[in-house]
Amino acid sequence: MAESVSLFEQKLRELAKRRETVIQGGGAARVERQHKAGKWTARERIAALFDPGTFVEIDAFVTHRAKEFGMDKVQAPGEGVVTGYGLVNGRAVCVASQDFTVIGGSLGEMHAAKIVKCMELAAKVGIPFISLNDSGGARIQEGVDALKGYGDIFYRNVQCSGVIPQISVILGPCAGGAVYSPALTDFIFMVQGTANMFITGPQVIKAVTGEEVTVEQLGGAAVHSQISGNAHFVAPDEETCLQLLKALLDYLPSNNQEDPPQYDPTDDPARVEPALRDVVPAEPNKSYDMHHVIDAIVDNGVFFEVSRDYAQNIITGFARMNGRSVGIIASQPNVKAGCLDINASDKAARFVRFCDAFNIPLVTLADVPGYLPGVDQEYGGIIRHGAKLLYAYSEATVPKVTVITRKAYGGAYIAMCSRHLGADMVFALPTAEIAVMGPEGAANVVFRDEIASAENPEEKRKEKIKEFRDVFANPYVAASRGYVDDVIDPAEIRPKVIGALELLATKKGEGLPKKHGNMPV
Ligand code: HXC
Repeated sequence: MAESVSLFEQKLRELAKRRETVIQGGGAARVERQHKAGKWTARERIAALFDPGTFVEIDAFVTHRAKEFGMDKVQAPGEGVVTGYGLVNGRAVCVASQDFTVIGGSLGEMHAAKIVKCMELAAKVGIPFISLNDSGGARIQEGVDALKGYGDIFYRNVQCSGVIPQISVILGPCAGGAVYSPALTDFIFMVQGTANMFITGPQVIKAVTGEEVTVEQLGGAAVHSQISGNAHFVAPDEETCLQLLKALLDYLPSNNQEDPPQYDPTDDPARVEPALRDVVPAEPNKSYDMHHVIDAIVDNGVFFEVSRDYAQNIITGFARMNGRSVGIIASQPNVKAGCLDINASDKAARFVRFCDAFNIPLVTLADVPGYLPGVDQEYGGIIRHGAKLLYAYSEATVPKVTVITRKAYGGAYIAMCSRHLGADMVFALPTAEIAVMGPEGAANVVFRDEIASAENPEEKRKEKIKEFRDVFANPYVAASRGYVDDVIDPAEIRPKVIGALELLATKKGEGLPKKHGNMPV
């Protein structure tokens, strides 16, 4: 009996030793290097993300089976990625956290197999998959097996898209084809100064095009959050980044079959905001910050903005209204007069599709003078990109509530979730102007000859503009046709929108049967 216990103890000791080797990762020197670079280790990140004591590791003992280029002698504890599951703010998620201290977090066959298995687990049980990226890319020594690994991940990313939320957090290098897994996921976070993403690095670019650029200038957090739009969130450090990630998860359901978590309301749904009467100017050409409207109508003024620094002429983000998650899409009159251009259309369309896939109702605030005119826009494909927004709203079956705060002209009126694209409830403020175009443009087109031949053309122009303004620059023509359900006092936006959302909570919407549509991409 004593002998068998000691044999068992030996087995336990071996297990502990093996586990300890895996936990050590690339060893103390490499961990120190990681810290000196301003980065946490894969396990420190997991510790910061999960509720204490809830993380369960899987596949700790997976090893590579590469032999070429001396790989038969290389130990890679944990295969350079920690995978598993646990609770984040009480809700289950799966994670893959790349370990840069082990062969630079490079991705070989078995590293990829661990990630794929974890993704499949997340999809099977219907919980979000989080990828914490810090990697030198394809493990060069493993050649085509590494490429196969990336392909397998991309394939799972696409299979899981719209089924479970997938979120990528870039915490170090993410180069070459490796960037395509994050790009296929729903949201990308980046940390300033340490994270970068690019298809080809500075050296290759210099050789091919002669351009000289630093890693940060090429693919740092600022570039992707402001210029390319690839990154949705930027944080100054890893701790803040993971806190932001947790806050995002709180707005999302665990999968597409569930509704987003509902919280006990902490803000009066009937709260009126008389201050809003002074926020939207009656003058059509005066700008204002739509954030003031959003902050006033959502629960406790808490708005979780998505892609805050990109295409700022449109605002996207999550909030709660009477304890329920909503996705807000709002024109921003303060930037480019809130017009729709290529980037704004892309940004809003992708956000609308995410919300629709995950049962998050859409609240749209429209103050839009039109699509942005210009040769650059036309050459860049504003027709195709602008169509994405029409497509996304028309396709969305979640509850859709729209508030027209002021201008809603032309195609952009239609695009900002008008009744005609399937809005379930459309409110307009008394300041709303719903028309084919602004009174100035309309008068100049329709009465061009009359104005030109008038004794005093300027007087005539003013007279015709006023005529147009009086007839069309108001919400009542649209309301008389039923395109607008009600004209409301700005103070009442919150109770009216919440009332509509409560009613629409049981909405059922199905499209016609098809394999999938052909969205203009
Ligand atoms: C094998 C790698 C590796 C890789 C890093 N390492 N990247 N090993 N394959 N892709 C190893 C390094 O040799 C080193 O090992 C250790 O990881 C740490 O790397 P360092 O270079 O010392 O770190 P650092 O100075 O911080 O530089 C990080 C780096 C650099 C910028 C990421 O390592 C780098 O340029 N790596 C190669 C990047 C790359 O070209 N990857 C392939 C992209 S193409 P030792 O033992 O010396 O410490 C790709 C195709 C995917 O990914 C296609 C999918 C469709």
